[in-house]
Parts: sequence; C-alpha cells; structure tokens
Amino acid sequence: MKQIWQSDRVHEIKRVNARFLGIGAAIPDKVVTNLDLESMVDTSDEWIRSRTGITERRVVSDDSSTSDLGTEACLAAISSAGIDPEEIDLIIACTSSPDMIFPSTACMIQGKLGIPSCAAFDVMAVCTGFIYALSVADAMIRTDRYRKVLVVGADAFSKLIDWTDRNTCILFGDGAGAAVLEPSDDGGGILNSYLKADGSGWDQLYVPAGGTAMPASADTVQNKMHSVRMRGAEVFKFAVRAIPEACTEVLRGTGHSLDDVDFIIPHQANQRIITSAAKKLRFPIEKMPSNLDRFGNTSTASIPILLDEMWRSGALQSGQLLITVGFGSGLTWGANLIRWNGPKFVGGDIN
Ligand code: UT7
Repeated sequence: MKQIWQSDRVHEIKRVNARFLGIGAAIPDKVVTNLDLESMVDTSDEWIRSRTGITERRVVSDDSSTSDLGTEACLAAISSAGIDPEEIDLIIACTSSPDMIFPSTACMIQGKLGIPSCAAFDVMAVCTGFIYALSVADAMIRTDRYRKVLVVGADAFSKLIDWTDRNTCILFGDGAGAAVLEPSDDGGGILNSYLKADGSGWDQLYVPAGGTAMPASADTVQNKMHSVRMRGAEVFKFAVRAIPEACTEVLRGTGHSLDDVDFIIPHQANQRIITSAAKKLRFPIEKMPSNLDRFGNTSTASIPILLDEMWRSGALQSGQLLITVGFGSGLTWGANLIRWNGPKFVGGDIN
C-alpha cells in the first residue's frame, strides 16, 4: 500500500510558507456620518464616538454588492503584485454578507475578474474571516499546488443592517481588502496561525432568517429577521478575552515574544475593545493601529483595509513582525504571525 501511495504522489510537499506579493482595498464613496444617524435613530454623535471611536462609515450604492467591492479590491491587489489576473490559481473569499447563499462570493469575484479557470471558494468565519483565509491560503501554498493565491475580505453590512436598530446600525460599514500571496523565498511571510471557534456562542451575533433554519417568508420580512442581531455587551467581553489569547497563542513555540512584535493589527470593531486588549497584553496602544473612526466595523475587510493603508503610508517595513488578530460571530477568533516581506510601495492612494 505504502509503495502505491508513494508512486502515485505527484507533488512533493515543500512546506514553503506564503508571503504577501500584493495588497489592495476598495472603499465606497458614500459617507454616512454619526450626524446622519442622529436623524435616523435615537442616538448622538457624542455617544457613538465615546462608546466606539467611530465618526463615520462608508456604504455601497443600492446597485452594488459585496462581490463588486471585492472585485475592486482584488484588482488593486493584483495591480500592486505586478501580475496578470490569469496567473491567479486560487481565490479564497471571506465575507459575512455574501451576494447570495450560493454560489460562493469567490466565484462571483472570479467571474467579474474574468479569470477563466482557477479554483475559488469561500471561507466563512464572519469577522475572523480574513485570519482564517490567510491561514488556509498559507496551507494551500505549503502543499506546492498553488503559487498565486488571491485572498479577499469583502463586506456590505449596510445591506444586512436594520437601519432603525441603534444597537447595530451605528457600528458597521462597507469595504473590501485583498492580498495576493505566493511562496516565500526567504522564510518570511506567514510564520504561524492560531484559529479557534466556540459554536455554543452562535446566538451572540447572527442573522436569523434566510437560511434553512428559518427560510424567507412574509413573516420573516415583516419581523426584520433578515437583519443582524447582536448582544453587544457579550460580544465586547468575549473580544477583550479573545484578542490577548490569540496574540499569545500565535507566538507560542515560534521563538518570538510580544516584545519582538512591531504591530498588532486588530479587527476594527470598537476602539474601546482595542484599548482594553492592549492594556491586558501590556502592549503599547501606539503599535495597535486603528482606522475605525473613518470606516466603522467593515467585518472581514477591516484587517486588509488597515494593512493596505499601513502599506501605502510606508508604515510597513521589510523585516517587521506583525500579528493580525480577529474575532467575530460563530464565535470565532484567531491570529496570524507575519514577518513582513511584502511588496515595495511604489505610490498611489487608497480611493
Ligand atoms: O465584529 C464584531 C462585531 N460586534 C462587536 O464588536 C460589538 C461589541 N460590542 C460593542 O461594541 C458595544 O457593546 C456597543 C457599542 C454595541 C454598545 O456599547 P455598550 O457600552 O456595551 O452599551 P450597552 O449595550 O451596555 O448600552 C448602554 C446604554 C443602554 O441604555 P440604558 O439601558 O443604560 O439606558 C443602551 O440602550 O446605551 C444605550 N444605547 C445607545 N444609546 C445611544 C445602545 N445603543 C445606543 C446608541 N445610542 N446607538
């Protein structure tokens, strides 16, 4: 048996980890400010800023979907990678707000990119999606079967939100971020990943209807069951535990400590969560960047949008040690440890 298996083997596993070859983001033009929200629900700019750190967020137009945003981010990432779209051999999309239940958003993006033939699938881990997708992409590259993997986090939560629910409508925004990954030639790139889930907490953040548990009906529409339900305070407490755990665990066994880390790039959900996690970790808050004042919580897109901004501003330098860390519905949480050996920045602004 062993001999047959060995002779059948077509690929030698080389275990070469993945590095970033390109990065890009897409942000919709339309801005919704806290002041705009004051006229929609019983809230105030002061309450939102002091409780979350958010001042404004972007939302897509009525005729635009998650895959439109994702496609734009992918084109930016492919352009910064300096490759042709046809060179992509795998697309991994993560989203909490897919265009449809099926097909996958990855396939929708593949079609819009006009890449004739590659593998494409979605990873569903809600706001932790990009952490999971980077880990899966790294594992696929380590098999030596995929050499240019496009990872995209895209979300249009504005289409899932009940805009009369002040508990949720103040938090979320739309956006997308993408990265092209390839085998690393110097040992840098994604060094380690830590992924966790606790399905017993599924009801802390979810969309009740539209799936097989509660198919769409006149009742579900009337009762706004297709919109996000969230137990905010519970999610907050979970997040403040999950970030330090994931950052600590992703370093375990790597020979690195928190002192070696240049930046922790956290999921952008609430500035108070980021500040509390930094305190728990005793990690300098200046090294935990944030852009949620301008974009709110863009779910799977928040980490790649921030990475893209940091890269374009020149904050990311070759050799730096980064942790990307996320948490979200599921419950899910996790982190990636990255030795940055990404593309050299050659100019251009985020739109
Ligand atoms: O990707 C993961 C996504 N989710 C999250 O990260 C959510 C994490 N949780 C949070 O960010 C926070 O829990 C929220 C921002 C959602 C809420 O902040 P909080 O400090 O936990 O507020 P709370 O839910 O404990 O509510 C405090 C008060 C309540 O009034 P009473 O009962 O004290 O009179 C709420 O009704 O604030 C009220 N409130 C609001 N007031 C003005 C809740 N939402 C609003 C609002 N404007 N938008």
